[in-house]
Order: sequence, then structure tokens, then C-alpha cells
Amino acid sequence: MNKIVKHLGVFSRQSSESDWVSTSIAWVVKDTLVLLGQQLINNGITIDSNFQKEPLKIHGNNNMLESVFQNLMINSKDSFALVPGKTNKHIKISATKVPEGIKVVYEDNAAGITPEVQARMFEPFFTTKDPGKGTGLGMSVLLGIVKDHGGTITCNSEVGFGTVFTMIFPELSQEEVEAIPKKVNVCKAMSTLDSRTKVLVVDDDPDILELMETALGTCCSVTSHVDPIQAVEDIKEKAFDVIMTDLRMPNMDGVYITTVAQRFQPQTPVLVITGNDKADQDLQQCLDLGATGILHKPFSNIVNLFDYVQNVLKGKSS
Ligand SMILES: Nc1ncnc2c1ncn2[C@@H]1O[C@H](COP(=O)(O)OP(=O)(O)O)[C@@H](O)[C@H]1O
Ligand SMILES: [Mg+2]
Repeated sequence: MNKIVKHLGVFSRQSSESDWVSTSIAWVVKDTLVLLGQQLINNGITIDSNFQKEPLKIHGNNNMLESVFQNLMINSKDSFALVPGKTNKHIKISATKVPEGIKVVYEDNAAGITPEVQARMFEPFFTTKDPGKGTGLGMSVLLGIVKDHGGTITCNSEVGFGTVFTMIFPELSQEEVEAIPKKVNVCKAMSTLDSRTKVLVVDDDPDILELMETALGTCCSVTSHVDPIQAVEDIKEKAFDVIMTDLRMPNMDGVYITTVAQRFQPQTPVLVITGNDKADQDLQQCLDLGATGILHKPFSNIVNLFDYVQNVLKGKSS
């Protein structure tokens, strides 16, 4: 869990609307390197940053922008590991003013990305890494953050040579940023949920569990159990803000979990996770017992998941 949160970057840090400030890409990159620089150097990677002298200000959220660069750097580091024996490993970052705003060019000379992977790399949960190594969330969250800042990102990559990401951030005022239709709205979704939000997830499928931990762990405090018996123990002893339970598990079902949840913490919303689209007696029973909603597997959109949890919490407090 910790490993995944680390892998994802700084998302576990709390963030709020007021964190939107006038900031500079140069500062953001420097702050990111405070955290990651040594790790890159230890991997034999040199970082060459080149910023125009005058401060290139944008209106942005520093934590979110830092996670953009963290994700880029960690991906580069992982890609360098695919080229054993490579020397002269470098990452170059530059920022300059162009008519459209601030142009940031991020470049590595790692393994490069095939056109097939380029076509899919921004999809949530798409990864070419081994299970447990990659979450496939980095690039999708990164894209959401860039969009929330009114920016764009393009990729140019050649296998065997490396990758260039070009981002353009408009020089926006606060009013202009607020006017951006936040369709992806990762920043907002992550800023209203915070690490004090306690979520319990129980699912016998370790992949689903990992996915939920990863997605929700970016902004909430997640307790997860493969074993429903342990989940029941927790429900009896600890308070949660949201409980999510799989409907079908080997030695206990979602109906029982819902019953226990209603009995020990009746104020806590219960979401039932199901892979079944059709009407289902057990599912209906959960709803009759007081379950708040249904979450359909597979989850294709991390932002929907955030939104869902947020809405449930909103309903709870009103
Ligand atoms: N700089 C890079 N060099 C090579 N491949 C990359 C780079 N950045 C991203 N990728 C590819 O994009 C995929 C998705 O990246 P990401 O969303 O961060 O998920 P993850 O890192 O967990 O796999 C990676 O698995 C990798 O194949
Ligand atoms: Mg990544």
C-alpha cells in the first residue's frame, strides 16, 4: 500500500482549493527534486533543468504539479531499468514562454514508448509493468491534473532513443482557472476527500482490492481486507466514513457485511461492489437492509470512483 502511494507521488498529501496559487514551474520542479533527486542520482540518472530567468508564473496547485513531475520522473527511472548497462542516462527539463503560455519540455533518453503503448498510456490502470510494480494510474492522473490547469500534454517517443513530453500551461488568473470546465477534475476530487476520510474495503479479489487501495489511497485512508471475517472485526471496533463490500465472497457475502455495518455503525454509508449487471436478489437485500449504493465492476474511471465516494459522503453529512 505504502509502496503504491509512494509510486503515485504526493497524492497522499492533503490538498485543498486554497492550494491554488500563483506558482512557477521552476519552483515546482525544484521541490520535486528535493524528494526524488537523490533517488535518480543513485540510479545513475543526471537531471538537467533549464528555466528561463524571469519567473514563468502560472496559476496552479503545487502539490498536484509536483505529482506531475514525480510521475514523469518515476516513469523515466523505470524505463531506464529496461535498458541494462546504459550509460549517459539523463532527464532534461526546460520551461520557456511561448505565445500560448508556458511551454515545459520533459525529455528522457530511456527505452522509449511504442506507438501502441503511447495510444493507451493515459488510460486509467493501463500499465506495461509487472503486477505489483505498476498501477497504471500515473499518466491518467497526470493528464487530469494538466487539464485541470487548462494545459495540454503531447508525447513524442522513439523506441531505443527516448521520450519527449511537451506540456503547455496557460498563464491563467484565478478567475480563468475557475472557469475551466473541470471535466476530469482530478484536483477537485482529490482535494475534497482527504486523509481523514476512512474507507473500509472488503473484496476477495486481491486485484480489485489493490485497485481500490491505489485509487482511493491517493486521497483517503483505506483499510482493506481480502478476508471478510477480518472486515467484520474492524466494523465492530473502528469507525469508518464509508464501507465498501463485495457482494460475493467465499465464506461470507455482502448481505452479511451490510447487516453488521448497519448494526454497529448505522450512520456509515455502505457501497456494495458487484460484477453483475443484472438485478440480483442479494443485491436487493443489501439495499433493503440500508446499503447506500452499488458500485459496478470493472471500474474504468478513477475519477468516477472519487466522485462516487464524495457524493456518498456529502449525502451523509446533509
Ligand atoms: N518515460 C517513459 N518511458 C517509457 N515508457 C513510459 C514512460 N512514461 C510512461 N510510460 C509507459 O506508460 C505506461 C503507463 O504509465 P503510468 O500511467 O505512469 O503507469 P505505471 O507507471 O504504473 O505503469 C507505463 O507502464 C509505461 O509503459
Ligand atoms: Mg507511472
